[in-house]
Amino acid sequence: MSALLVLHGPNLNLLGTREPEVYGSDTLEDINQRIRELVESKGSSVVCEQRNGEHELIELIHGARGSADFIIINPGAFTHTSIAIRDALLSVALPFVEVHLSNVHSREDFRRHSYISDVAVGCITGLGYRGYLYAARYALDLLETG
Ligand code: DQA
Repeated sequence: MSALLVLHGPNLNLLGTREPEVYGSDTLEDINQRIRELVESKGSSVVCEQRNGEHELIELIHGARGSADFIIINPGAFTHTSIAIRDALLSVALPFVEVHLSNVHSREDFRRHSYISDVAVGCITGLGYRGYLYAARYALDLLETG
């Protein structure tokens, strides 16, 4: 049985009402529910967490060592600013996929740079909530078949 950790960064708790034309109308709980259904239907487990603070996300990444096999992370705006989150991901040495609901390459220039893409297994951007589901399918497949 594989254990996944899904981390959502700042402002993603406001999904549903936050810029719905960019991020869609699903709430974070709607998205987490779909992730849980998918992962649990495959006999694996998943913990979904959201934090607005950089240090809180870092603590959760540290805690993943020993409790999770794979991380799916949407660091929100910290994607574009946080060397500390990059370092935390490198420190725990768990494979991870970077997910963004919106296509960060079709928006402002500052969203094109990510501090974690080059050390991620892969990146999914612009596919809405489905991006998390594709990442979860990938993680389970990878963990099962190598
Ligand atoms: C986001 C894209 C980021 O640029 C932005 O700061 C977010 C959400 C996304 O999911 O599309 O908060 O990560």
